[in-house]
Amino acid sequence: MDKIVIEGGVPLSGEISISGAKNSAIKLMAVCLLTDQPLELTNMPRLRDTRFMGQLLASLGTQVEEGPGSRMLLHANDLTSTTAPYDLVRKMRATFNVLGPLLARCHKAKVSLPGGCAIGARPVNLHLDALQALGADIELSEGYVIASAKGGLKGADITFPFISVGATEHTMLAAVLAKGETVLNNAAREPEIIDLANCLNAMGAKITGAGRSEMRIEGVKSLKGVTYSVVPDRIEAGTYALAAATAGGKVRLVNVRSDHLGSLWPLIAQAGAKVTMDENSVLIERGSTRLKPVDMETQAYPGFPTDLQAQFMAMCCLADGVSIIRENIFENRFMHCPELARMGADITVHGREAVVRGVEKLTGAPVMATDLRASASLIAAGLAAQGTTEIARVYHLDRGFEHIEVKLGNCGARIKRVSE
Ligand code: EPZ
Repeated sequence: MDKIVIEGGVPLSGEISISGAKNSAIKLMAVCLLTDQPLELTNMPRLRDTRFMGQLLASLGTQVEEGPGSRMLLHANDLTSTTAPYDLVRKMRATFNVLGPLLARCHKAKVSLPGGCAIGARPVNLHLDALQALGADIELSEGYVIASAKGGLKGADITFPFISVGATEHTMLAAVLAKGETVLNNAAREPEIIDLANCLNAMGAKITGAGRSEMRIEGVKSLKGVTYSVVPDRIEAGTYALAAATAGGKVRLVNVRSDHLGSLWPLIAQAGAKVTMDENSVLIERGSTRLKPVDMETQAYPGFPTDLQAQFMAMCCLADGVSIIRENIFENRFMHCPELARMGADITVHGREAVVRGVEKLTGAPVMATDLRASASLIAAGLAAQGTTEIARVYHLDRGFEHIEVKLGNCGARIKRVSE
């Protein structure tokens, strides 16, 4: 298994180009199931998670081709199966989202329940309630959802009891081909939702209000093929911005949508880094002055993203004072705390709150990645720490960060991947 080895204590200096967003790309890939025409995605990140989704789509009969550069061609003209087996779904939860498009197009599907994961139980009750509201008959049997919609799905008025990114996207993916209008209330407003709506609308869907709490979807009979470019990854951009603030230096992020990280920039500035931005690039600078503590809590968009909580905490570990970090989205997303503590961080967790007492320096240590974003926080801490940090279980990182060691290496970081 690969390890990442970092010789820390070197400020970063250089430019990093942000890849397409993982959490948009994998849902956009599922869109191909809604049409018999080809879907070409550009600005596609090459990641373990996009590969898992590709494997699942191929198992359903989709032609999946990775083109030159960051292109992917998906063509589901002849679906040969409507079953998503446990072995594929368990590897990546978002593959569960093929249920809605399969139901919409084929009127039946059998998809494994995804199960829990390291950051929480992550049930799919909201997904299933919404599909039922659209007229699907749903039965749970032996770990599978067996769903059918004789005569097709029908538009409905759906109010989510709380905000869920996955349930909002999943319902969109089903409702686009339903008969009549669907209204989604309390919908998620993440940029990835807007990206999905933009792609579907380019294919002929009629979605209005994406990015707002109330979204309307007028069902259409069919969708056509399209070439669509994936939105830049705001979480990858935020991760490098936080790494630069933590390790110090001067890093320019390019191919970034700075407006998608409106909750992050003021907090990085409050911590003592200078943030200069224009529409497509952001410059992060921090000299040798000590970081300041900052309190933060995660919220649904446009609030602070849970996917940057661990990286933000790495920065707070080196602040001159106490930061309080509250995780409101997932119940078990503090697994990076004991690993950061191995590097000298002083963190106490009380339920959903972490009290981070800043220390003057972190020291390199062997640590273990526990989930995707936790791995990124260990990298940020390792870049700032004195000495050598070895991060094991790098496969978590490979799920969501494209060429992370190359991108950081180009900014002067002494970072390498070691195969064992
Ligand atoms: C998406 O997960 C992202 N994943 C997550 O990123 C991200 O952390 C999360 O949204 C929040 O922004 C992908 O896009 C693939 P939710 P998702 O439904 O859709 C509960 C990463 O590191 N809930 O908004 O699964 C749920 O347990 C990943 O890239 C239910 O109770 O998140 C959670 O507490 C991790 N029932 C909360 O809602 C449901 O049916 C929000 O989850 C659905 C969700």
